[in-house]
Formats: sequence, structure tokens, C-alpha cells
Amino acid sequence: MKKVIILGSKGMLGQELVRVFGSDDGYEVIAWDRDDADVRDKVELSEKIMDIMPDVIFNAVAYNAVDACEEDDEEYQKAKVLNGIFPGELASISKNIGATVVHYSTDYVFDGKRPVYKGTSKNPSCCGQRCDGCMYMGADDTLDYYAYHENDEAHPVSRYGRSKLMGEENVERVGGDYYIIRLSKLFGLPAESAEGKKSFFDVMLELGKKNDSVQAVDGETSKFTYAPDLAEKSKEIVEKNMDSGIYHVANEGAVTWYDGVVELYKIVGLDTKIEPVTPETFPRPAARPDSSVLKVTKIEPLRHYSEALEEYINDK
Ligand SMILES: NC(=O)c1ccc[n+]([C@@H]2O[C@H](COP(=O)([O-])OP(=O)(O)OC[C@H]3O[C@@H](n4cnc5c(N)ncnc54)[C@H](OP(=O)(O)O)[C@@H]3O)[C@@H](O)[C@H]2O)c1
Repeated sequence: MKKVIILGSKGMLGQELVRVFGSDDGYEVIAWDRDDADVRDKVELSEKIMDIMPDVIFNAVAYNAVDACEEDDEEYQKAKVLNGIFPGELASISKNIGATVVHYSTDYVFDGKRPVYKGTSKNPSCCGQRCDGCMYMGADDTLDYYAYHENDEAHPVSRYGRSKLMGEENVERVGGDYYIIRLSKLFGLPAESAEGKKSFFDVMLELGKKNDSVQAVDGETSKFTYAPDLAEKSKEIVEKNMDSGIYHVANEGAVTWYDGVVELYKIVGLDTKIEPVTPETFPRPAARPDSSVLKVTKIEPLRHYSEALEEYINDK
């Protein structure tokens, strides 16, 4: 039986990793959140891991306060410790005991300065939507233009993005058996943890039920990632013993936040009016990439986010 440690086990992603591995008899799951092991205590964490001698360690711990760390130096220090320094320490512990480490990163390592595809394909068969993975992909190279490949150079535009890039670089520098999995716009059941946040869709669903109209940013084009799909795909990557390196894992469909709300209300049958607004309508301290679509080239693409969203809404 293989031993798997899941750090950040009560987070939005961590809880799904626990569920996916916990339902497989081939694994013994050791699930730790902040109360079980504060990862900032490197010595204690290292001792606890050595007691277990796991085969795989998943790092689903996160500092996700994108805006707080942009405007506050102490917060930025916390981001650098959790997102930047700790992943390297964990990779080093893993390498020393011959374990595989799986670390998670973000589309926010990219600057998003590539032009956003606006559905102006020269191909007359193109539906004019922003559909990544379209059957006409390649017929018109603008379709592929905005997506970031796994090996594209990263240029973060925020402190959060820089802290996540630091984590990637530290894991790569240590080497050993590692996977860095980038995702974007995570959604799923709210994290069980104390600080657990609701995902965008749950927030917009509540707003849509209470109001006649809502505003949604028609920008920041990227892909949504359904936490259970990400957890399943992470397991598959490890089990297939794929090459160490950076992987993009996100559901298909390159969309704005506005597009996501339109899809959500269609699924639940809400007729709340949705007003598309520019990102500047909601000024925030940290810059976001205009378009940070993760191109998935190393694995079979995931299902479209609308299918995953429908399942999420129906199951919860
Ligand atoms: N959420 C997104 O939209 C998104 C987008 C792109 C990438 N990602 C990446 O995806 C990964 C998972 O994110 P997530 O949204 O699932 O995170 P999350 O829900 O915020 O969960 C993070 C978990 O880490 C725990 N944690 C925080 N500090 C810790 C510490 N010092 N020691 C031990 N545990 C600690 C948290 O516990 P407490 O609640 O008690 O602090 C929480 O259970 C992260 O690498 C994140 O950067 C997320």
C-alpha cells in the first residue's frame, strides 16, 4: 500500500485530494492541515514526514490573499514564506527520502500581456466564441495565440504571482521527482478549514438569488478548474509516473468571469440580469493578467468547465 501525505488537507483542493486517494484501497492517506502540522516549522515537519516515509507528498497549502500581500509588506513576507520558500524546503525533504512531491501553482505567474482572442477568426466556420480546444484550432493561428504553454516564460505582474513563481523555481532547483501543477480559477466545495473561502460561483449564485441584476467582470480571460477534476488528474499524473516538470491542469473553456456567470445562471435557471463590466469597475490593489489561458499540452485535456459546473451545482 502506498503512503500519501496531503498538506493543506482542509483546503478547497486538499479536501478533494483526500477524497480521491481515500476512496482507493491502494493508498494510506495521511491528511494534515495547519493544526496537525504548521508547515512553517521546517524541523518539526521534516521529523513528522520521516516518521511516515511517504511515497508521495501533495502540497495543497496556500497563501491566496492576492490583494492583501500587494499592499502590505508583512503579508507579502507571509506569501513568500508559504508560496515561495516552503515548496523548496518540501521538495528537499521529499528528495532526501525518495518521495515524489506535487506542488500547485497558478496562471498568475504569467503577465497576460498577449492579445486576448476576441472571436475574430478568419475561418468562416468559427463560432466567434472564445473556445480553446475548438475543432478549428490550428486552422487559424490566432485561436492558439493567447494561450500559455507549460514552458512559456513566466513574468508575474503581482507580488502574489512572484511568490508563486519563487515556489516553482525553488522546487525545480531542488529537482528529484516533482510535479508543479498550474491551475486557474479554482472552484468546488468551500474549504473545510477555518479561513475557508467560497468559490466565485457560490458567491455569484448567492448574489444572483438576492438581486435583480449583478455586475461581472468581462475580462481576465482564463480557464476555470474544478477541484475534484484537478484532484483526479493529479492522481493520474503521479500513477502514470510522468516526467518531472510543469503541468497545466484546468478545465477546457477560455472565458471571462462574466462568461462564467452567464453559464452558471443558465444552468440553475436564474433570470437575474448580468451586466458585463471592465476590471477597472472593481479596482483592486494587485494587478491581474488580462488573459492567462493555460494551454494543456502534456496530458489529455479535462472536460469543459460547463459540464463540471453543472455536476457541481447538481451534486452539492
Ligand atoms: N483558489 C484559486 O482560485 C487558485 C487559483 C490558482 C492556483 N491556486 C493554487 O491551488 C493550491 C490550493 O489552493 P486552495 O484554493 O485549495 O487553497 P485553500 O482553500 O486556501 O487551502 C489552503 C490550506 O492550507 C492551509 N494552510 C495555510 N497555512 C498553513 C500552514 N502554515 N501550515 C499548514 N497548513 C496551512 C489552510 O489552512 P487555514 O485555512 O487554517 O489557513 C488551508 O486548509 C494553492 O497552491 C494555490 O496557490 C488556487
